Amino acid sequence: MAQLWGGRFTKETDQLVYKFNASISFDQRFYEQDIKGSMAHVTMLAKQGILTDAEKETIITGLQGILDDVKSGKLEITDKYEDIHSFVEANLIDRVGDAGKKLHTGRSRNDQVALDMKLYIRDEVQETDALIKEMLEAILGIMENNLETYMPGFTHLQKAQPITLAHHMGAYFEMFKRDHERMKDIYARMNTCPLGSGALAGTTYPLDRAYTAKLLGFDGPTMNSMDGVSDRDYLIEYLSALSMIMMHLSRFSEEVIIWNSNEYKFVEIDDAYSTGSSIMPQKKNPDIAELVRGKTGRVYAALTGLLVTMKGIPLAYNKDMQEDKELPFDAIDTTKGCLQLFAGMLRTMTFKNDRMEESAKHGFTNATDAADYLVNHGVPFRDAHGIVGQLVLLCLDKKIPLDDLPLEEYKKISPVFEEDIYEAISLKTCVEKRNTTGAPGVKPMQEAVDSYKKYMEEY
Ligand code: ARG
Repeated sequence: MAQLWGGRFTKETDQLVYKFNASISFDQRFYEQDIKGSMAHVTMLAKQGILTDAEKETIITGLQGILDDVKSGKLEITDKYEDIHSFVEANLIDRVGDAGKKLHTGRSRNDQVALDMKLYIRDEVQETDALIKEMLEAILGIMENNLETYMPGFTHLQKAQPITLAHHMGAYFEMFKRDHERMKDIYARMNTCPLGSGALAGTTYPLDRAYTAKLLGFDGPTMNSMDGVSDRDYLIEYLSALSMIMMHLSRFSEEVIIWNSNEYKFVEIDDAYSTGSSIMPQKKNPDIAELVRGKTGRVYAALTGLLVTMKGIPLAYNKDMQEDKELPFDAIDTTKGCLQLFAGMLRTMTFKNDRMEESAKHGFTNATDAADYLVNHGVPFRDAHGIVGQLVLLCLDKKIPLDDLPLEEYKKISPVFEEDIYEAISLKTCVEKRNTTGAPGVKPMQEAVDSYKKYMEEY
């Protein structure tokens, strides 16, 4: 047990207490951020004349050595230390002696951990964003090739109106585009440096906080030292954005599972992204999509967990805040893994265009267009709705689509129908007539693809 704060104590910490209190098993994840934060801190201390240049050089060389050795595996981070901050400081003192004891001048673990977490999350926000980009690229690729691939659009999981695969994929493009925007927003809002907040009330040393912030790539220092050490809003925002990504991925997974089912066969998941059954030799299961859908719960759990942890904490730092790590780290790993796997599954998935088109032809997805035909011939919409309803009943009885019903049967129910009804309700017409912005027609979808391409160039 190596503790930074033994001076005031007369007894050894109880073993169980030590274990319960320690965070090294999970905060070792940001050893690099901790070391880089310390390097910036001593650089600033030397600039301000609080440390000598020689002390600064000694400390930085020592810290660089620790960083290199941990990276190469030469130096192991063990539970001999309470947390990553103690590990780095103790190793530094071992290596460089007395100069190392000056590292923590004008700093508290409270502002140190606030900094480490921010530096770490800042990197993760960028990594998440890069994976969102991969998803968007995979989706856009499918859109470009399927502007005229007809399929049924659903409401209530009942066939509703015909759309195209490009249109359906476009809906997901919009969702993940918003996820990208959220990453940009979070980054911009969180990018202030808490170092120099001290334990809660700043310090009496003449720190140049703006300089430290600049060295670490922040837009500036946090403006209130109490808030600096106790703000975890940015992390909650990030977990909320991750939850949103998982919600999108989970809905997408649900659709892939349905499309991949024996009944639909709209898609075939590549062998590399499917798994078999130990007993049923014929099975090829969509386990990846199911797992993505299933893992959504634990990401929501991290968000809910931190919201609940934070709601009762008085200012400023309290140890409860150490709970901002394990579940969030798991949520980050989970979401990144899911994004990566889903994009891979999407890129290798085969779409069965014939099956989708055949499905769109059945289920009366053109019934609205038949009603619109009547409206264009002067029949009020409510009456047209009733007439087509009767036609649908008739077709259900005959087990045929509206396209195959003879004209005289149409005319028996409404004399307004003429030969051109077949053209008006053909799949192609149904989709191609829908040409308003955002609709499935080729024209608006081509415009969408063009604008998305530009969007990706500027990503
Ligand atoms: N392990 C702690 C955390 O993650 C570091 C800060 C400890 N500060 C303290 N005053 N005990 O929050």
